[in-house]
Formats: sequence, C-alpha cells, structure tokens
Amino acid sequence: MAASPVSPTAAVGSSSSTFHATGAEKWPKTFALKNKRPNHPSPPSYSSRAGIRVSASSTEIPSRWYNLAADLPVKPPPPLHPKTFQPINPEDLSPLFPNELIKQEASQDRFIDIPDEVIDIYGLWRPTPLIRARRLEKLLDTPARIYYKYEGVSPAGSHKPNSAVPQVWYNLQEGIRKVVTETGAGQWGSALAFACSLFGLDCEVWQVRASYDQKPYRRLMMQTWGANVHPSPSNITEAGRKILEADPTSPGSLGIAISEAVEVAGLKPDTKYCLGSVLNHVLLHQTVIGEECTNQMEAIGETPDVIIGCIGGGSNFAGLSFPFIREKLRGKINPIIKAVEPAACPSLTKGVYAYDYGDTAGMTPLMKMHTLGHDFIPDPIHAGGLRYHGMAPLISHVYEQGFMEATAIPQKECFEGAIKFARTEGIIPAPEPTHAIAATIREALRCKESGETKVILMAMCGHGHFDLASYEMYLQGKLVDLSFEEEKIQASLAKIPNLAA
Ligand SMILES: Cc1ncc(COP(=O)(O)O)c(C=O)c1O
Repeated sequence: MAASPVSPTAAVGSSSSTFHATGAEKWPKTFALKNKRPNHPSPPSYSSRAGIRVSASSTEIPSRWYNLAADLPVKPPPPLHPKTFQPINPEDLSPLFPNELIKQEASQDRFIDIPDEVIDIYGLWRPTPLIRARRLEKLLDTPARIYYKYEGVSPAGSHKPNSAVPQVWYNLQEGIRKVVTETGAGQWGSALAFACSLFGLDCEVWQVRASYDQKPYRRLMMQTWGANVHPSPSNITEAGRKILEADPTSPGSLGIAISEAVEVAGLKPDTKYCLGSVLNHVLLHQTVIGEECTNQMEAIGETPDVIIGCIGGGSNFAGLSFPFIREKLRGKINPIIKAVEPAACPSLTKGVYAYDYGDTAGMTPLMKMHTLGHDFIPDPIHAGGLRYHGMAPLISHVYEQGFMEATAIPQKECFEGAIKFARTEGIIPAPEPTHAIAATIREALRCKESGETKVILMAMCGHGHFDLASYEMYLQGKLVDLSFEEEKIQASLAKIPNLAA
C-alpha cells in the first residue's frame, strides 16, 4: 500500500473548543456518555475458603469499567495540541478515534457500562482465574501468600483483547471499516486482529522490526485472523522512510510504529487508529481485570498487602491496580502498589515527568508523562511490549501523587524468575510479566527474611507460547542484560518540547 506523505501534525485535527480532560462539567453536552445498562445473565457465585483458585464459575463478569480519574483528588494535566501547545478539544482527536472512545478519554464518570456485545465476547475467556501460587511459595520457602490474576486465557493469550474488543466495537458502531495500529511483541496486534475478525473490520498492523524478526508466530496469528502486517520502520509511510534513511537496520520502536499507523489513519475517513495502551480509555477497559479481582479476593477473604504488575504503556498494571487504588483512596485497604519496568527502558524510574509526544515523529498530542524522550529507541530486549519511551499519563500522575511505586529489573533476573514460575506453576509467562514475577520473588524472599506473612497479588498478563525463542536464548546462556545508557537518554531528552508546565 502506498501512502502519500503527510505533515507531522496532520493526524491530529484542530478546532476551537477545548478538550477538558480535567472536568466533566465542562465537557460539551453532546459528548455525554451513553449509559446503556447491559442485561446479561449472571453465573452463580460462591465463595471459596480454600483460596487456591477462584475459577470462572465463582465470579461474574463485571458490567462496568472503573474510571480512576473520577476519584483522584488532583486531576491529571490535559493533553496538548502538538502544534499550538494548547489543550486539545474532542474534535482534534476525531481523525483518529470514534466519538464514544473520545468521550471515554475525557470522562469523569466513575463507572462506564460495558456494552452487552462486548460482555458477550468477554465471556469467551472471562472471568479469568485468580490462582494461589502455592508451589512457587513452597519453592521460595516463603511465609508470603502469592496470588496471580491470569489473563493468558484469552484467545490472543494476554490482557490485550480486553480493550481490543470494545475499541473495535465502538469503531463499528460509527461506520468505520478499517483500523490500523502498532504492535511491539505482537500481543496487541494479535488482540486487535482477533477482535476485527469477530466484527468483520479490516486490520493493518505495523509490528516493531525487532519483534517481527524474533516472533514470527505472532505475525502468523495476526495473519490467521486476517490482518495485514508490516515490519516497522517500513517504506510505506513517510515516518518509516525517514527512519530507514537515517538507519537502514533500525530495530524499530513502539514510538516509530505508532507514527506509521497514525500517519495512515489520518489519510482516510473510513479508517481509524487503535492504541493498545497509554490512553485513558485503554486503561479504563482493562479495569475489568481489577473489578473482577477485587471480588475474587473478597470471596476468599484475602486483602492484598502488595500488588505487582509489569509496565510498558501501563494498561495491564492499571487494569489490575486501579480498582484497588479506589479502595485505597476510600481508606478500606492500604496495599503497596508496585510497577515493574525493564532496566533497559525505565521511563518511570529514570525518565522525566514532562509533556512529550506519544510517537517518534511527533504526530500525536503532547501528553504529560514520564518519558525517556520520544525518539529514544530502547535496546531490543525480549519483552518487546515494554519497549516504550513514555508512560500512560494517568499512571504518571498517580505515580507523581505518591499512590504507587516503581522499580526496574534487568531481563536475566526476569527470565530466572520465569523459569521458577514455569517449573512450579506450569505456565510459561510472556517476557513482559516475567518482570512482575521477578519483583514478586524479591518480595517473597524479603518476607522469608522478615517472617512476614504478606499477601502478594501479581498481574500475570500473558503466556509466552510464541516467545520461546527468548527462552531458548536464556536456556542456552545467551541472554544478556542490556543496560541503560545514560548518554543515550540525555541525547533523547534534549529533544522533548521545551514547555513550561
Ligand atoms: C503480555 C504483555 N504484557 C504487558 C505488555 C505491556 O503493555 P501494558 O503496559 O500496556 O500492559 C504487553 C505489551 O505488548 C504485553 O504484550
């Protein structure tokens, strides 16, 4: 497919009213959310005292997503237009997203009803199990009780379909025929391809070159579900061509792949863009995980002391933790909430909190977030889904407000943890959640030292059946730690827009 060149800001429109991400009362009436109450049958529920596994039959699929923005005492800063640097308005986003998702992006409603059609499809794999990792506890000889919420049971093998399905559904409702996207590890791309195949939309995906080469079976999954997949950077877009001119062997990055997909979405009115993380509406959809899990923990009479999740753009972490942060804000519980990022791409722990672009070419709105700089290209670590220069603005804000912590772990320790997990719990994790496993093991071993009987809840966001090449490298002793280079980030940070914020 040949695309005509577009200017770097062409993908975001411009108009006169303002995008009020910080106050529902200012949001134009025409953008009020529809509150359609789903009418789906509830499976029978019971409470399990054994606490080993809270299975699908013991919990209902939530009928609402939870919007943490509604409960935050200080509201997050609004996104800015990439050209004018003024707060954006809803119409600016309409070349890229359907209206209903734009409304969700700015909503201050505490709960948003999940459409019946989406709940119906969620029912293919939801509720997902909450499992006690007794065998891992035994191996570690820890008094801690470790639970994991497992999202790898979805058809695509991760949490990503929780947002892919509603995103495609809302696009379909507004007459869109095709969606385009980026993907890192291929998890998001395959989730979107799966959702498009159910609803009959066309799907085109730019997959980060490093992962395209490392994970051919993810590409084949996307193709099996009918998607058209390109390695990124590609010659198809102006953004891709520019990168290839500068570096013909570029491993790509999520920022570059986003630029390519956004560029293509901006060209056709019947084509929109879908994002697999970072934005408020994506985090919102993922809260189905935490909504389910709060009920599951209650059913077994457990309260988490520590909640741990890996973090790339932030969607699985937000999905599990935000409903628990709600309970924390209400003073009902007080868990430590910990995000784990790769040492090679540590946006929360080593980045700056500033307005920056979501993509490499600077086409997206500017978002206040923790960033390593929009043209930072992380080393090609195996957790492709965590190679993103920025962080969800909502998570960045929650982090700044002190409601959560973050840590960075190098990939060898993560794979060591993954092997322990696979050999005790049976599940071979995707490289991304190995970061959560490594941090969970650290915490459990701390409990062993101190004798504390903490309850650790971990987000196990996907399986690694298509990531076995990474395991092969680890098992052959060839997997190395790619350390974070300070000079590289300083060079990249020097290029973020200089805004007094
Ligand atoms: C299995 C898995 N976990 C985690 C991530 C990171 O994304 P997020 O931080 O949005 O959950 C990805 C991204 O592709 C993924 O595929």
